[in-house]
Amino acid sequence: MEYNSPLGSAKEKHLISLLQLPKGSSVLEIGCGNGRLLHKILEAYESCVVGIDIDATLIQKASAFASSRFNTDRFQFVCDDISNVEVSNGSYDLIVCNGASHAYGNLSCALSTMARFLKPNGRMLLGECFWIQRPDTAYLNFLGVPENFYLSHFTTVKAAQAHGFQALYATTSSVEEWDNFEWGRVMQAQAALKDCPNDADIQAKIEQLNTWMDAYLRWGRETLGYGFYLFEKKTKF
Ligand SMILES: C[S@@+](CC[C@H](N)C(=O)[O-])C[C@H]1O[C@@H](n2cnc3c(N)ncnc32)[C@H](O)[C@@H]1O
Repeated sequence: MEYNSPLGSAKEKHLISLLQLPKGSSVLEIGCGNGRLLHKILEAYESCVVGIDIDATLIQKASAFASSRFNTDRFQFVCDDISNVEVSNGSYDLIVCNGASHAYGNLSCALSTMARFLKPNGRMLLGECFWIQRPDTAYLNFLGVPENFYLSHFTTVKAAQAHGFQALYATTSSVEEWDNFEWGRVMQAQAALKDCPNDADIQAKIEQLNTWMDAYLRWGRETLGYGFYLFEKKTKF
């Protein structure tokens, strides 16, 4: 299963190795998608994980994969809107939010909510888009977002610091990771069309993807970056 974000396997391995989770640690992922990152954490560490996503199909996949490999007392995949899920303050050692801060409306709300959910000195692995350069107005119109929807790589780190996090590590997706992610979706849709040439939904999806790829090549590839950030919640803030 692939990520719904520009994360290649070498960077995935490196990020997982940086987590250094102690035995019995508790991990929450907001917008976990198909659960791949949590499956990798379950493989690498003796942790217990909770994944929440609003998409029932993805949660079903995440749960089915985990059930085939791990003890059921180590994982929980919940299909719900994160804003409906009760999370006690100070209850997690690690919170992952990879491409899902919008679930809280904006990055600032996501950061303050995740800070509350974390134990003192708990960590947050954030995957977040950022502007590499000032976006063209036509690109903003295409995306349907205001310029302040994303920050820069630098100001994303500053925003987390302003919410009481110490930055431990930050890196960005390479152009190759972006290309693999974006073109991977095109190739997947084209393969599906070969299997079902008359499927109107797949045809519509391909039309959409073609428009998306035009914008990616015209603007996105040089303008929109993706960062991975490891932060630690400061005890005194
Ligand atoms: C860009 S995808 C990233 C998924 C996953 N983290 C990955 O990298 O493959 C964002 C995910 O957030 C989920 N999501 C969006 N809004 C949500 C909400 N309010 N509550 C829970 N999940 C949400 C979506 O269903 C989607 O799976």
